[in-house]
Amino acid sequence: MADKATLTIDGQSIEFPVITGSENERAINIKTLRGASGGVTTIDPGYKNTGSCESAITFLDGEKGILRYRGYAIEDLAEKADFLEVAYSLIFGELPTADQLEKFHADIKAESHVDEDMKKILDGFPKSAHPMGVLSALTSALIAFNPNTVNVDSEEEMYSAIVKLLAKFPVLAAWAMRKKKSQPLDYGDNSLGYVENLHKMMFAKPNEEYKVDRAVIDALDKLLILHADHEQNCSTSTVRIVGSSHAGLFASISAGISALWGPLHGGANQAVIEMLEAIKEDGGDTKKYMAKAKDKADPFRLMGFGHRVYKNFDPRARIIKVAADDVLGQLGIEDPVLEIAKGLEKEALSDPYFVDRKLYPNVDFYSGIIYRALGIPVEMFTVMFALGRLPGWIAQWKEMRERKEPIGRPRQIYIGENLRDFKAVSDR
Ligand code: ACO
Repeated sequence: MADKATLTIDGQSIEFPVITGSENERAINIKTLRGASGGVTTIDPGYKNTGSCESAITFLDGEKGILRYRGYAIEDLAEKADFLEVAYSLIFGELPTADQLEKFHADIKAESHVDEDMKKILDGFPKSAHPMGVLSALTSALIAFNPNTVNVDSEEEMYSAIVKLLAKFPVLAAWAMRKKKSQPLDYGDNSLGYVENLHKMMFAKPNEEYKVDRAVIDALDKLLILHADHEQNCSTSTVRIVGSSHAGLFASISAGISALWGPLHGGANQAVIEMLEAIKEDGGDTKKYMAKAKDKADPFRLMGFGHRVYKNFDPRARIIKVAADDVLGQLGIEDPVLEIAKGLEKEALSDPYFVDRKLYPNVDFYSGIIYRALGIPVEMFTVMFALGRLPGWIAQWKEMRERKEPIGRPRQIYIGENLRDFKAVSDR
C-alpha cells in the first residue's frame, strides 16, 4: 500500500507521508502542508476526517462495531473485569496484578475525603442547579484545595494527582445529588469497594443501616466500564485540548464535564428517558415520533440514535440492552418505557431513513432505563456517565502530556468583512 500521498495545488505537487496505526488505520500526515504550499490549510468542520493525535489507549472500528480498551474487547471487560481494574489499565496501560490493584485502591481510599470548605461552595448552589453544572464547578474548585500544577515529568506527582481525582470525584458527584434532594452529605465507607462506596455515598440514609442488592452494584460496575473511554470524542478532545495549554488535570476534567453535558453527547442519556416518557404520556405512538425524527422541518431527533463513528452498531448498546433486561428482571421491575424503546429500535432498524444513514442505537439508548431501575434520578444520568468516563479522561490527559503534544490550536478560513474604515459612533 502507498506510503505517500500526493496533493496537487496551483500546478505544484506536494508529497505527504502516510502513517499506519497498529490496527492498519491509515492517515495522511499533513504537518508540512502550510509550509510547502505557501499557507494553504485544510478545513473539516466537526473534524469528521481529522485525526488529532496518535493514541495507544482505545481502539474502535465504527464500521465493524469494535471497541477495545488497551487491546481488550469491551465485551470481555464488561463481563469479567471490575471498574477499578479497567480504570487502572486505561491510565497505566496494563491490567493490574492483585498487589497493584490493592495498592491502587488503598491509595484512592486514603484520599477519599474532601475539604470541609468545599461544602460551603456546594451550599451556594440553588437546589434547582443541574448536578452536571455543580460537578463541573466543584471539580474546578478542587484546584483551590490541591496543588494547581502537576510536574508531569514526575511519575510520583502524576500518580498522586490521578489518585486524588479518582478518590474525590465520586464524593462530589454524590454530593451534587444529595444537594438536589436536600439530604445530608455522606462520606462513604472505605471498607467498601469503589463502586459500592459510590452507591453508598449516593443512597445511604443517615438513620438506617446501608444495604444494597449485589445486582445493583454489578449493574453499576458494568455501566461504568462501558463508559470508561471512547477515544477522541467531544469531551475527551476537550480534556486534551484544555490540557495542551498545560492547564492542570482538574481544570481540564472540569472542562470535559461541561462538554459531556450537551444533549448531542453524554446529555443524551437524560434526553432519551425524557423522550421515552413523553412518547408514553402521548399514548405510546412510536410511529408518530419516528415520523417526527425523519421530518427535516421538525427539530426532533430520535435521541440515543446515531453516532459520529459507529456506522454499524454500537457494541456498548448491545451489551446494555441485554443488561437492561437482566437488571429489571433481577430487581423485579417492569418499566413500560423499555417496551417503547424496543419498539422504536425495531422500527428504526427496518426504516430506510435510519438504514440509509446507518443510524443505530448508541450507548445512551438503554442506559437510562437501567439507571432509573437502580433508583438514580434522571438529572444524575449524565453525572453517572462522567463517573464512568473519568479514567478515560485521565488516561488521555496523561498520554497527551507524556507525549509532549503541542498546544491544540486549529486554523480557520476567515469569511468576514475585508478591511474597512472605522466610523465614530455619531457617524454610524
Ligand atoms: N434522529 C434523526 N435523524 C438523525 C439522527 C437522529 N438521532 N442522527 C442523525 N440523523 C440524520 C441527520 O439529520 C443527517 O441526515 P441528512 O444526511 O439527511 O442531513 C444524518 O442522519 C447524519 O447526521 P449528522 O448529524 O450529520 O451526524 P453526526 O455524525 O454529525 O452526529 C450525532 C452524530 C450527534 C450523535 C447524531 O446522530 C445525533 O444527534 N444523535 C442524537 C443524539 C445522541 O443520541 N447523542 C449521543 C451520541 S453517543 C455519545 O456521545 C455518548
